[in-house]
Amino acid sequence: MPAASETVRICHFSDLHLPLQERVPLMRLVGKRGLGYANLRILRGKTHKLAAFEALLKRAASEKADLTIVTGDVANLAVEFEYAFIDRLLRAGGLDPARTLVLPGNHDRYTLGSDLVSAFETGMRDWLPPGFDRRAGYPIVRAVGPVLVLGLDTAVWRNAVRSSGRVDPAQVKRLRAALGGEDARGRWPVIALHHPPFRREGRLLRDYRAGLEGAKLLTGALAGVRATVLHGHLHELSRRAMGGLDIIGVTSASNDRGKAKMQLAYHLYTFDGTGLRSAVAVRHWPDRPAADRFERTDLPDEVPVDTRGVF
Ligand SMILES: [Fe+2]
Ligand SMILES: [Fe+2]
Repeated sequence: MPAASETVRICHFSDLHLPLQERVPLMRLVGKRGLGYANLRILRGKTHKLAAFEALLKRAASEKADLTIVTGDVANLAVEFEYAFIDRLLRAGGLDPARTLVLPGNHDRYTLGSDLVSAFETGMRDWLPPGFDRRAGYPIVRAVGPVLVLGLDTAVWRNAVRSSGRVDPAQVKRLRAALGGEDARGRWPVIALHHPPFRREGRLLRDYRAGLEGAKLLTGALAGVRATVLHGHLHELSRRAMGGLDIIGVTSASNDRGKAKMQLAYHLYTFDGTGLRSAVAVRHWPDRPAADRFERTDLPDEVPVDTRGVF
């Protein structure tokens, strides 16, 4: 059991959505991937910037956190060359796979084919536990000093108009078991996943399209549990309390949107065995003078969720 006074620092970023580095063969642009490709070329490509991400990554790695958590949408179209590129990029940026937890998002199961062949787990295998088995491997459990990190998989293939996720009962059962296990004793739980585990009131259609199926099952299983929950997917800063859960969402790590709530950022958290001690957002403004390009602010206690966010 860790000493009560021990602290640990966790860095969190998400939703890389980097511009494609290679052309995708026409044959592979049938259906949803074709729409996504067009979206990248026309819309996303305008604000999601590789150089901005690289600068953010370098800065994040320089924090020398005990663990860095990447909460999904690592790729855009779940094509092999995207993962090969990202693998190189993360290493070159200074991240060490042994001190990094990378989870999948809906874009990592973008097509049925990529889901069936587990393109994410294959492409990011060096960042996953050795011999990782997707069917029983999530949540990925890591005891890091006084925290127990549990990384869930909420990513499933969906049709072209949906970016929603799902958490299946077997995974929730394993999560419960891990929370009751020996490694959890004296440690603060940090649950990481791509989709935020809440429904947004009055937004049924949006929840159907982009929410998390099984959110109720997950939060029901966590009733009475005190934990920090880290997610991505909304591409905006959000924070809300639900029961004993402190749920924090980070922006997309490449999105130079020009608005503070959506600007590319990483979060840096300090924990001890009793919970979160400090939470800081480090935003990157690539167009500002060099001395002002990184802005460090404490996370507010609550940040309302703007349901018009980009998925
Ligand atoms: Fe995303
Ligand atoms: Fe997403």
